Amino acid sequence: MDMIQTTYFDDQKPGTSGLRKKTKVFTKKNYLENYVQCLFNSIPELIGGTLVLGGDGRYFNKEAIQKIVGMASANGVSKVILGCDGLLSTPAVSCIIRKYKADAGIILSASHNPGGIEGDFGIKLNGSNGGPVSEQITNKIYEQTKLIKNYKIVQDVHINLNILGLFDFMGMTIEIIDSVNDYANLMNSIFDFNAIKSLFSTEFTFCFDGMNAVTGPYANEIFVNRLGAPATSIINSTPKEDFGGLHPDPNHRNAREIFSMMFDGDNVDFAACSDGDGDRSIVLGKKTFVSPSDSLALLTANATLIKKYKDGILGVARSVPTSKAVDLVAKKLNIKCYETPTGWKFFGNLIDNQLITFCGEESAGAGSSHIREKDGIWAVLMWLNIIAVTKLNIPQLINKHWKEFGRHYYSRHDYEEIEESKAIYIFRAIEEKLSTLRGFVFGDETVSSAEIFTYKDPVDKSISENQGIVIELEGSSRIVIRLSGTGTAGATLRIYFEKYVTPEENLYQDTQMVLSNLINIANEITQIKDVLGKDFRKVIS
Ligand code: G1P
Ligand code: ZN
Repeated sequence: MDMIQTTYFDDQKPGTSGLRKKTKVFTKKNYLENYVQCLFNSIPELIGGTLVLGGDGRYFNKEAIQKIVGMASANGVSKVILGCDGLLSTPAVSCIIRKYKADAGIILSASHNPGGIEGDFGIKLNGSNGGPVSEQITNKIYEQTKLIKNYKIVQDVHINLNILGLFDFMGMTIEIIDSVNDYANLMNSIFDFNAIKSLFSTEFTFCFDGMNAVTGPYANEIFVNRLGAPATSIINSTPKEDFGGLHPDPNHRNAREIFSMMFDGDNVDFAACSDGDGDRSIVLGKKTFVSPSDSLALLTANATLIKKYKDGILGVARSVPTSKAVDLVAKKLNIKCYETPTGWKFFGNLIDNQLITFCGEESAGAGSSHIREKDGIWAVLMWLNIIAVTKLNIPQLINKHWKEFGRHYYSRHDYEEIEESKAIYIFRAIEEKLSTLRGFVFGDETVSSAEIFTYKDPVDKSISENQGIVIELEGSSRIVIRLSGTGTAGATLRIYFEKYVTPEENLYQDTQMVLSNLINIANEITQIKDVLGKDFRKVIS
């Protein structure tokens, strides 16, 4: 066992449950090791405990696994459970931690960020409930990153990651498990696989794009082997270190293949894709994109059609920038709807304390109490199961939903890789104006409230401040402005727009047109074009 003096470390942001950096930063000498040692130092249960380890297959995944196995051994971990070939999706890690009662899980992924030597790498830490570790632990990790001087490692580990089974590694047990099986079994316990199988045996056509990231093997096992979809319905299904040059972020800018299939080409009845580590997904019907906020609302409204949720759900939660479509469903179902800051970890407490069953974010992540992470394939199966039961296709289901509840026109605009100082300047300038915005009239819109979102956790009563600026306008329109916490270069400012129309109004207009007033208001409030000097805007959804 060697003790190695740290030569370089660049700490994480406090409060984040993972570290995401350029791959070239992670591959610097001692960088990964230093951070992983901070993780081991922050979870004492791992000494003599069990660790689940796997990643989304991006460049450096396998090398990082060998190093972390060496560090687990040197740090006195008693057992490491590894996904075969080093692969485990984020939802699979959550499932496996819970099933095998592990003490923690390390997920090697930068989620939807590009992979490869020129891309990004990341490490996420999940606790024994299967979810991202609490803020208390992330703060501990942050403190460790400032103190770290040494790490413990058994060097030059070369485990064959392809042989399933249990073996001994210097007194530590290593178990290499099938990356897919436990997760597929969990899905089988939630959904009516026979009903979905019958759907696939009709003329129903389906396409799942694995984006050359981790979900391909999961999709093959679940949709093809267990549910009978044709093998050709899964595309880009082999995980590649650079994701084959694709950017596995499920939106119209990056999931081009399925968007052009569904809007311009020979479309199928149902198309879907996930992000790099499989915790997000989008679904599309013929010439129809289901906005993630609408998806959460529709899945909530139809929950009782699914085997696991047939007796109803406890409550729902959405992040603050996610549209209020699900709020209307919750009201009808007479269940509570919680509004949380962006980021999955806030949902965990609500699920653990039986306050909610479903939760979701506008960024295409939705999930339920079956694990403690968002779950891309779960959401796809929810849709398939609802279609199998109702015999309605995606456009019909969406129309039915809007005709009952009305529609929340929704869009997110991103300003990526802008100078941090300019992003902070824009933010501060709006904060200073907040008190004067209330009652302000812009054209035919009037500001009814303008506030910085603060969250009080209903369970542990902890307070999370500065979670974005929320500007509400009379008539149920909103603008939310926040800085991203996951970018790896410069700053990313996200502006979210939402406008509600009742079932009696026009439900089929162009989204950007409906939101144009709100977009103008945001331009005026932020003065963003003037500050940035050029138009950095990207329309994401
Ligand atoms: C983004 C998404 C957010 C999600 C997070 C982690 O964070 O917006 O919904 O929880 O990735 O996957 P952001 O970059 O906006 O801080
Ligand atoms: Zn992800």
